[in-house]
Amino acid sequence: MFRLIRVIIMFITFEGIEGSGKTTQIKHIHRYYQRQGQSCVVTREPGGTEIGEKIRSILLDPQSNTLCPMSELLLYLADRAQHIKELVMPALAAGKTVLCDRFFDATVVYQGYARGVDTRLIHRLHELILEGFKPDATILLDLPPAIGLSRAWEQIDNGNRKSAESRFETEKLSFHEKVRAGYLELARREPERFHVIDANQEEDKVRRDIINALAKA
Ligand code: TMP
Repeated sequence: MFRLIRVIIMFITFEGIEGSGKTTQIKHIHRYYQRQGQSCVVTREPGGTEIGEKIRSILLDPQSNTLCPMSELLLYLADRAQHIKELVMPALAAGKTVLCDRFFDATVVYQGYARGVDTRLIHRLHELILEGFKPDATILLDLPPAIGLSRAWEQIDNGNRKSAESRFETEKLSFHEKVRAGYLELARREPERFHVIDANQEEDKVRRDIINALAKA
């Protein structure tokens, strides 16, 4: 008798405001897939490749305060182009599920909705570098920005998050409100791809909600 093992290769992205718990939850989901025997890689944007990590340090450094919105946008896209070619596509081609901490939705909401760059331009540039490629499922960890930001600053203060990567945490609450509203708007537009999870709950409940959402994806 053959035993049929159901292996589904997926590109899953995790989005949310600062302090929404993405990194912690990605670790849980990685462990969950590994226990299921699913080959799985964890990566992030900006970053994920050697070049991407260098770009990340420019983008998140609070001292990069003269970075103009267009340079910021193009650096995120440079990081993404490298990441897709060097890591994401080869991993998917090798039969691995990819769990990615942020992807193109972050650019639409942070650089588009919050920073004010024309979202049509962002979509055009994405078409050029991604050629229609998009995540199979996107987990949006949603919570009020005041809570997320206070969690993020607590992590910075106790050394669990790098202060050298805190440029976005120093943005005003109104900026983060726009980011949250932007994400929820994207989720309304693409209900098939997005799974909105209440991130203002116990860590284990959030983990279970994500696993249930992915089981239906
Ligand atoms: P994180 O790795 O802690 O989530 O930090 C990444 C920061 O970069 C976060 O503040 C969101 C921001 N970001 C953008 O502004 N645009 C993007 O396209 C991406 C991927 C991240």
